[in-house]
Amino acid sequence: MDVLLRLKRFDPERDADPHWEEYTVQADPSDRVLDLLHQVKWYQDGTLTFRRSCAHGVCGSDAMLINGRNRLACEYLVKDAGTEISVEPIRGSQVIKDLLVDLDGFWEKYRSVMPYLVNDEVPADGKERRQSPEERERFDDTSKCILCGACTTACPSFWSNPDFVGPAAIVNAHRFIFDSRDQAGEERLQIMADADGVWRCRTIFNCVEACPRGINITRAILEVTAEVEKAQGA
Ligand code: SF4
Ligand code: FES
Repeated sequence: MDVLLRLKRFDPERDADPHWEEYTVQADPSDRVLDLLHQVKWYQDGTLTFRRSCAHGVCGSDAMLINGRNRLACEYLVKDAGTEISVEPIRGSQVIKDLLVDLDGFWEKYRSVMPYLVNDEVPADGKERRQSPEERERFDDTSKCILCGACTTACPSFWSNPDFVGPAAIVNAHRFIFDSRDQAGEERLQIMADADGVWRCRTIFNCVEACPRGINITRAILEVTAEVEKAQGA
């Protein structure tokens, strides 16, 4: 079938502002929106610019605003998107070209929460730090994050305040705060207690809707907030 693909294009060397361009592409219902973007890039306009890598929902590179909602282009099928599909860059970050945005700020916030295990003690058996299935389960949901940025860039609190650390960074703080092997929980909670930390969340739930991994982000944010309040003796 024919699909009308409307793409928001922007070339900083040529355009004053972003504008829409339309392409007609042949598609099967089981094709992904990423396949349609490839069709345009490979057969109609090689200058079309976007990020993608794994093409299988693993690397998190191709979050885009598709038909008005943040989704992964490699996971969203034509049969669900329809025969008229609009694709725009994710919001709240500077557009470099077409669908490609500058994610430096996103990665800076991710790094700010110390997204790695901190533990300098030698394990009791000298080999490994053991954890019960229940302890592992405590952060199972947030360990699924692929850092696509769909949550943070769908968040109105982030749009109105780009300094807000954002849902993705909080999810990744949660993953280590609740890890029984980690010893930097207090430090992370101090980071989360910052004015631009967890308090900026207004429980709007856009992040939960946007997450391609089905992570209950709002619950994770509320759990981190409860830990911050506990640490502050509230
Ligand atoms: Fe993407 Fe979900 Fe991780 Fe946010 S929490 S960065 S939406 S995978
Ligand atoms: Fe890797 Fe879509 S290209 S998640």
